[in-house]
Amino acid sequence: MPGPTALLLADALESAGAGPVDLGAADVAGETVEVFDAWCSDERSPAELWSMTTVQAWLPDGTEDPVEVLVAAVVAWNEALAALGEDPAWGGAERPFPSPAWAVESSGKDDWMDTVRGWYRPLWPCEGVRVIPTTGAADGAGDAARGFFDDAPDADAAAATEAVAAALGARANQPGDLAVRLLPGVAFGTGAHPTTRLCLAWLRRAATAQTTEEAAADGDGAELPRGASVVDYGAGSGVLALVALGLGAGSAAATDVDPLSVSACRRNAALNGRDGVPAALEAALCGWTSSEDDPLPGWVGRADVVVSNILRGPLLDLAPRLVGYARAGGWLCLSGVKEGDQADAVAARLVACGVEEGTVGVATLGGWALVVGRKSGG
Ligand SMILES: C[S@@+](CC[C@H](N)C(=O)[O-])C[C@H]1O[C@@H](n2cnc3c(N)ncnc32)[C@H](O)[C@@H]1O
Repeated sequence: MPGPTALLLADALESAGAGPVDLGAADVAGETVEVFDAWCSDERSPAELWSMTTVQAWLPDGTEDPVEVLVAAVVAWNEALAALGEDPAWGGAERPFPSPAWAVESSGKDDWMDTVRGWYRPLWPCEGVRVIPTTGAADGAGDAARGFFDDAPDADAAAATEAVAAALGARANQPGDLAVRLLPGVAFGTGAHPTTRLCLAWLRRAATAQTTEEAAADGDGAELPRGASVVDYGAGSGVLALVALGLGAGSAAATDVDPLSVSACRRNAALNGRDGVPAALEAALCGWTSSEDDPLPGWVGRADVVVSNILRGPLLDLAPRLVGYARAGGWLCLSGVKEGDQADAVAARLVACGVEEGTVGVATLGGWALVVGRKSGG
């Protein structure tokens, strides 16, 4: 099933009492395809997407009647789909929906966390930024014992940094390494996906003044100056907002359609609590489309940087709102789209919404694209 349809099912399962939900990879002709990648491909039909998407939910120990949970979830899912309307961008084109096939199995583990923890590794999404899955212990002692601080940047980290530098220019005087701790498994945003890597590489570049001369001539010369305000729309784990704060931003607002994501953003902010980060991060639930209320009305015209890593459909729909959050001269940093037509469409939409055409840049990594540009008037 296409992205919004599957995410709504995941939400419905969680609301019906299931534990965290995972959207599994599919095996297509012997090749593993990540569902997020498949949803963004223009080459796959809704029927094909439907057959290759697996939604896996953990039921809490002692759940008496798993079928009751599933039925409640499917009812809620159908209501949510009906509320979403018939717009093809939101899955309308695939109707009528086939009934999902389902199965209940014992994982043999006492706790879903034991299952998912093994999937997460500490990583360097780009040079200078480490993302460390954490047990949540306040002192991080368990994390250090697992050797999470000993690893070094790998080829993927260099590739993300180089992709952004090649497209948008390298910067001298990069700030030092930043480590962000995240609770694994509750929301999208481990830092591993190329779209997240591109956004993080841009944020790190944006936090750096090009030269001291430019810094003197133009504020501090960085798109993400110290004390900057940042909006992260479709925040998942909050990784982009938290890295921005770690790089010197002064305040951030994170929003997502998924209530678990909103609570994950708050919990992850608390885990990265140095320098007042928890208080600097505001997290709010939002609706799926621009026809629903603005989740961050106090941010209109204020943000120095707006980051959003969601699918092409929501980006095109929400572009006026995203550009609206930026102050005149503020920056948009958008990903979640494929390079080529999808990136071109997002770039054109940004320009139509008030971004200066000459400032638009596109960086690519593994077939994915990052689109950036500056709002006019600064
Ligand atoms: C690809 S994840 C990105 C997570 C994180 N920002 C990152 O860069 O890794 C997309 C996130 O956007 C959320 N999302 C999807 N559609 C959305 C919409 N229409 N409005 C707001 N959030 C949305 C999803 O729930 C998910 O958490």
